[in-house]
Amino acid sequence: MFFPEYRARRTRRDANLRRMVRETHLRVDDLIYPMFSAFGENIKKEIPSMPGIYQQSIENIVAEAKEVYELGIPAVILFGIPEAKDAVGSDAYSETGIIQETIRAIKKAVPELTVITDVCMCEYTDHGHCGIIHEGDVDNDETLKLLAAEALSHAQAGADIVAPSDMMDGRVAAIREILDANGFSHIPVMSYAVKYASAYYGPFRDAADSTPQFGDRRSYQMDPANRREAFREAALDVTECADFLMVKPALSYLDILRDIKDRFDLPLVAYNVSGEYSMIKAAAEKGWIDGDRVMLETLLGMKRAGADLIITYHAKEAAALLK
Ligand code: PBG
Ligand code: ZN
Repeated sequence: MFFPEYRARRTRRDANLRRMVRETHLRVDDLIYPMFSAFGENIKKEIPSMPGIYQQSIENIVAEAKEVYELGIPAVILFGIPEAKDAVGSDAYSETGIIQETIRAIKKAVPELTVITDVCMCEYTDHGHCGIIHEGDVDNDETLKLLAAEALSHAQAGADIVAPSDMMDGRVAAIREILDANGFSHIPVMSYAVKYASAYYGPFRDAADSTPQFGDRRSYQMDPANRREAFREAALDVTECADFLMVKPALSYLDILRDIKDRFDLPLVAYNVSGEYSMIKAAAEKGWIDGDRVMLETLLGMKRAGADLIITYHAKEAAALLK
């Protein structure tokens, strides 16, 4: 194959030819929309660093869930902002916790929308860490019990998929075991298998009120410098019977997405995180980029890198453009 007999431009000549040779497709089926459920009534508070994304009380979440469903988006992932936080994150596994109430309300109003729940402690602990603290650090094995209780209570409230994001060792197995023992062997675990300690989570921590009150998350989330460690994390979760693997964040970790896609055959999820969303929104607001086109190109890039599904705050806008 060499020039001038071979000319690569021949299959780019018009829109139909480009359509015929297109290798990657972004579809509404690929999208998962994150939502923040806040305790109270009549709450709809925009997150300053995330234009278009709100902390909302349940009736407003339900209204938006209907909108999401009508756009054809298959699933939402829920985060909770409880009435009160404490050292052991009690609201996380309470039958009347913020997420449990939200799940019931959404499943009642829009039963066909798949409800995924984030399973973690940081939104519910007063210290903001993803587990309970013992001698200044998160106690892995004690935290497992609470995460398992949290996942079970989500399933009991009607969650369709549980998604642990805490990065404790052994959490997938602990959750699988408690779900199976309580009649929820049909509920999949979507594991945040490869989750880095990233500065891109900044806007989310404002949205979820979950900034650690001391220290940081580097003793449990992964070092951004590491690639082979990602294979070990994913392999562990496969052994523990995860049903989906996730890489998070997405944009600075497209190589990791491709690596995990090539090595594991579970459905692969990319989390297009808050900071990635904020950057596009801010640059578009300034008129420096075409926000819609940069968004679609970014999401397509994640699919091309290997993502089967993308959790993204852009889901509604993307779905509207893809119609
Ligand atoms: C909770 C959690 C976080 C995100 C998802 N689940 C924050 C964190 O680990 O600090 C980040 C999502 C985003 O930035 O959009 N563990
Ligand atoms: Zn957490």
